[in-house]
Parts: sequence; structure tokens; C-alpha cells
Amino acid sequence: MRLYLTFFGISIVFLATLLQILAIHSTGNCTFAKNVTLKFVCKGNVPKDMYTMFRDNRAPPDTPYSVWQTEEDDSALLVSFYTTMFPNYDTINLQEGEMDLGQFFLATKGRNTNDLLFVTPSTLHCFPFGLRYTNELKRHCLGQDISEGGVLTKKPIIHYGSLSIKTPDLPKSDATSTSVKRNLLLVVCAVITY
Ligand SMILES: *[C@@H]1O[C@H](CO)[C@@H](O)[C@H](O)[C@H]1NC(C)=O
Ligand SMILES: *[C@@H]1O[C@H](CO)[C@@H](O)[C@H](O)[C@H]1NC(C)=O
Repeated sequence: MRLYLTFFGISIVFLATLLQILAIHSTGNCTFAKNVTLKFVCKGNVPKDMYTMFRDNRAPPDTPYSVWQTEEDDSALLVSFYTTMFPNYDTINLQEGEMDLGQFFLATKGRNTNDLLFVTPSTLHCFPFGLRYTNELKRHCLGQDISEGGVLTKKPIIHYGSLSIKTPDLPKSDATSTSVKRNLLLVVCAVITY
């Protein structure tokens, strides 16, 4: 349990760095998300304050995204960045088929349209812990304010339909570069724990 909490804490603070390091690979066990119908919730563009808060360099300000959730409840939430064709559909369904740099989605619209979309390059990240990031992105595109209590998505899934990474603004002082090194060290520990 302590291990879990430690990783949980680290993951919130260093999510951006973690994602950056793992940028070109899919991560986590996404078995729970396969073959599950996800309904369209909303779409938007990453606002500046979200980037300031979470520092996700793979989705800098203005990156288009859409939010999808399971039909029964909102415990699983998929946020897909860059895939501007997704919101043309009502549901998407992550398909089996292991490809490290691309994902298949069965997308449906109404009763008659079933398209198999192959998004490449793309990476998929399933987290074994809750995330606030995905929940705030959902709130943003629903036109709601940032949540005060910092509510977490229980089963967050993040999909990047592009491998682009924004170069973070380089720290100038020594103090900051030390903290960058510390971050890296913690991330390495986190990855090993994971
Ligand atoms: C992934 O999760 C599923 C259950 O959701 C489990 O059956 C499977 O063994 C897990 N795979 C790995 C590699 O941990
Ligand atoms: C995937 O979903 C379809 C339709 O819901 C179902 O018919 C099929 O058996 C499922 N496949 C797996 C591997 O769960």
C-alpha cells in the first residue's frame, strides 16, 4: 500500500516528465479497455492554464482533444489528443492488435457506420491509479471550471495521436537544474516500481 501511495504521489507531480520519457511507447495494461464501447463526451483544445498545471509536453496549449467514457458509468475515461477525426463518430472501441506505435479503433456513427480507424503513429497509456488530469480535461470541454477538490478519474486512459513533444523551457539557474535532475531520478524510480 505504501508503495502504491508513493507512486501515486510521484505520478501526480511528475506526470509530464514521466510521459515525456515514455513518449514513444505505449504504457500500462490496457486490457480492461479493449473491446469496450466508449461514448463521445466532448471535445476541445488544451487551454493554457491546463498546460501550466499539468505540464504535459505532449499536448501543449491548443492541442485538440476529445473525451470518451464508458456507457455504464464514468469510471473509465479516455482522452485522445490530435485525433480530430474521432469526434465525427458517436462511439469508439479500442481493438485488440498489438502495435506499439499505432492503435486500431472501431468507430461507429448511428446504426450504419462502422469504420475501423488505424491511428499511427500513436501511443496509448493506461494508468493503474487515478488521475486528475483527464478529469479536468473533461470538465474543460464541458465548459466547467477546474474542480476545487481535484476529483480523479478512476481508470484514466490517455491516447496521443502524434509523437510530437514540446521542448520544455529550459531552466536557467542551477537550483532549477538540480530539481530537474531530482525529477528524473524520481521518475526512474517510479518506472522501476511500476
Ligand atoms: C492485464 O490485465 C488483465 C486483467 O485486466 C490481466 O488478466 C492480465 O494478466 C494483465 N496483463 C499483464 C501483462 O499484467
Ligand atoms: C468484443 O465485442 C463484441 C461486441 O460487443 C463481441 O461480440 C465480442 O465477443 C467481443 N470480443 C472479445 C474478445 O471480448
